[in-house]
Amino acid sequence: MAFRIQTFEEYQEEYRKSVTDPEAFWEDKAKHFTWRKKWDKVLEWNFTQPSVKWFLGGKLNITENCLDRHLDIHGERTAIIWEPNDTKKDKTRYISYAELHDQVCRFANVLIRNGAKKGDRICIYMPMVPESAVAILACARIGAIHSVVFAGFSAHSLIDRIQDSDCSIVITSDGAFRGAKEIPIKDIVDEAVEVCPSVKKIIVLERTGCNIRLTEGRDLLWKDEMKKVTNQCPATETDSEDMLFILYTSGSTGKPKGVVHTVGGYMVFMAYSFTNVFQYPLEPAHSTRPDIYWCTADIGWVTGHSYIIYGPLLCGATTVMFEGIPTWPDAGRFWEVVDKHQVNIFYTAPTAIRSMEAQGLGYVRPYSLDSLRVLGTVGEPINEEAWQWYYENIGKGKCPIVDTWWQTETGGIMISPLAGITPVKPGFATLPLPGIQPVLVNHDGKEITGNGVEGNLCIRFPWPSVIRTTYGDHERCRQNYFATYKELYFTGDGCRRDENGYYRITGRVDDVINVSGHRIGTAEVENAINQHPDIVESAVVGFPHPIKGQGIYAFVICTNSQHDISLLKEEILAVVNKMIGPIAKPDKIQVVGGLPKTRSGKILRRILKKVAEGETSNLGDTSTLLDPSVVDSIRTGAL
Ligand code: WTA
Repeated sequence: MAFRIQTFEEYQEEYRKSVTDPEAFWEDKAKHFTWRKKWDKVLEWNFTQPSVKWFLGGKLNITENCLDRHLDIHGERTAIIWEPNDTKKDKTRYISYAELHDQVCRFANVLIRNGAKKGDRICIYMPMVPESAVAILACARIGAIHSVVFAGFSAHSLIDRIQDSDCSIVITSDGAFRGAKEIPIKDIVDEAVEVCPSVKKIIVLERTGCNIRLTEGRDLLWKDEMKKVTNQCPATETDSEDMLFILYTSGSTGKPKGVVHTVGGYMVFMAYSFTNVFQYPLEPAHSTRPDIYWCTADIGWVTGHSYIIYGPLLCGATTVMFEGIPTWPDAGRFWEVVDKHQVNIFYTAPTAIRSMEAQGLGYVRPYSLDSLRVLGTVGEPINEEAWQWYYENIGKGKCPIVDTWWQTETGGIMISPLAGITPVKPGFATLPLPGIQPVLVNHDGKEITGNGVEGNLCIRFPWPSVIRTTYGDHERCRQNYFATYKELYFTGDGCRRDENGYYRITGRVDDVINVSGHRIGTAEVENAINQHPDIVESAVVGFPHPIKGQGIYAFVICTNSQHDISLLKEEILAVVNKMIGPIAKPDKIQVVGGLPKTRSGKILRRILKKVAEGETSNLGDTSTLLDPSVVDSIRTGAL
C-alpha cells in the first residue's frame, strides 16, 4: 500500500491492517525513509513501566531524511517561505532545500566547534525566523537533543527548563518583533543563565539590532561563527531510540515536564500523519508546483516542531514560517499572507479563528483566498460557530476542515479527518489515524464500548511517536500517563463518541487549563501567585472565554486587609508575568476570605469552577466542607 491514503475505502482498509498487524503496518511505512542500518525488530513495548521502542537497532539521521534525501530531485525547491513581522522593514525570504541543507551543515559545524556533541542538551529560545529551524535541525544533525523554549516564557520559566536538562548551549537572538512590540530576548537569557552553570556558550542571532551585552568567552554572534566553518558536515549516526528532543509542557502538578521524543518512530509518524491528514503529496513530482503549506503555530510548541518543521520537510514540502501576529498591522494579516503566497493548506488554532471572527468580515473581504484547498485546526475544541465561520468565510464552503486532536506527548496527530477523504462534522475530530487505537473509559477504568457514549480518552496500543519518558524522571511519566488506568495511555481529555463512531474531544478532565490553545497547569499559576508576599493561598480554575476558549480565574486570600484591591491585582499579574510569562496572567482575580475545603484540607475545585462559570445558585453538595459559610461569601463576591 502506498504511503498516502487516497480514498475512504483505503483509509478503512489501512486502519484495519494497522490494528490486526501493527508491526507489519509500520514496518511498511518505515521503508520509505533512508536508514543507515535497517532495524532488527519493529516494536517492543509494555505500558506498565512504561517502555516503548520502535525500529530497534535501526540507525539513521533524521536530517538526512528532511534534507539530503531531497537534494537530487528538488534541491532548488523552496523549503521555507519566511514572512516577516513587518513587510516595510524586511523582505520575504525563500530558502531552498539546498540552501537549508547548507545552513544546517554550517550551523552544525558551529555547534561542534563550540564543544557540542551527541547527546548534549541544547536550549533554543528564539523568535520565528528561519534560523530557528536551522538551529533545530543542526542539533539533530549532530545527534544533540534540542529543547526549544517558547520565547514568550519568562526568565524564571527558562531557568527551570535549562536546569532540568542541564543544557550546555543556549541559542537565542538579540531581540524579537511581535506586532508593534520589540522584546529583548537576550536580556531574558542573560538573567536566566546567571543561575544556570551548565550553560557554557550562548550563540546570538542578530534580528532586531537592539543593544545587547556580550560576555567575553561565553557569548558569540551567529554571523561571526558561521564565517569560521564550512558547509561540509556529515550527519551523525543516531539510534532509532536515541532522544531527538525534549519539549516542556504543563501538567496537573506545579513543575513543567520534559516530554521526550526519539528519532525513528517520531520521523515515521510525522511524515505519515502530515501527508495523510493534509493530503500533501509525498515528494511531489519534479515538474509540479509544490503545494504551499502554512501552519501558524510557534516553533516553541509541539505543533511548530511537528508540523512546521519535521513533518513538512520530511515530505519535501514548502512550509511557510510567519514571524508576526494575526492582528497586526490589522486583523487581515493572515489572509493577506494567504493571497501573497498562494497558500493551499492553512493550519491554525480555534482561538485565532475566533479572534478574527470578532473583528468582522471587513478584514476578510479584500482577499480572494482562492488558493486555499484544505483548512486545519489544532490545540483546543472548536465551537460549532467558529467552525462554520471558518468553513464559509475562509474556505468559501469548498475546503474540508481537518480538526486535528493530539498532544505534546503524542508527538503527532492522532484523531483527525483526512482532508477531502473523511466526511467532516463540525466540532468533531472524527476518526483515528491508522495505527491509533482510542478507548473511552469510565472513572474506574472500565472500557465504555459502543457508540453514543462519553468517557475519558485513552489509547490502548503504542504508536511510533508516543512519549518515551519525562526527562530525568521516568516515574513521573509512568504516574502521569500510564498509572491512572491499567495498560492504557491516559490523555487527560474527556471525549464523546457519537452514534457513528466519530470522536469529539470535550476538553481536559484534569487540572490543566487550555488558554488560547496553550496548556497551563492550575498549580503552576497558583505557585506563581503565591510568590506575592501578601497572598497566603490561591486557587486557580478555568472558565469559558469567548475568544481564548478558556480563561484563568484566580481566587486569592490576602493577609493584608489594607491592601488596595486594584493595586493588588496589578501586582499579582506582574508576579505571574515574571514567574511564567504573559500567557498565564489571570483574566479574573477575586479576593476571598477563605477557600472551600474539605475536612482533610482538599480544595473543592468543582465549586470554584461553578462560581467562575457564573453559576451561583446550584453549587452542588457543600456538606463535606469544613466551613460551608465560605461558599456564600465567595458567591456574593463573584465577579
Ligand atoms: C487539546 C497541542 C480539542 C487537548 C497539539 C489536548 C484539542 C491538549 C485538540 C494538548 C482538538 C488539542 N480538539 N482539543 N483538535 N487538539 N487539544 O500538548 O486538551 O499543547 O490534551 O498539544 O490540547 O495540548 P498540547
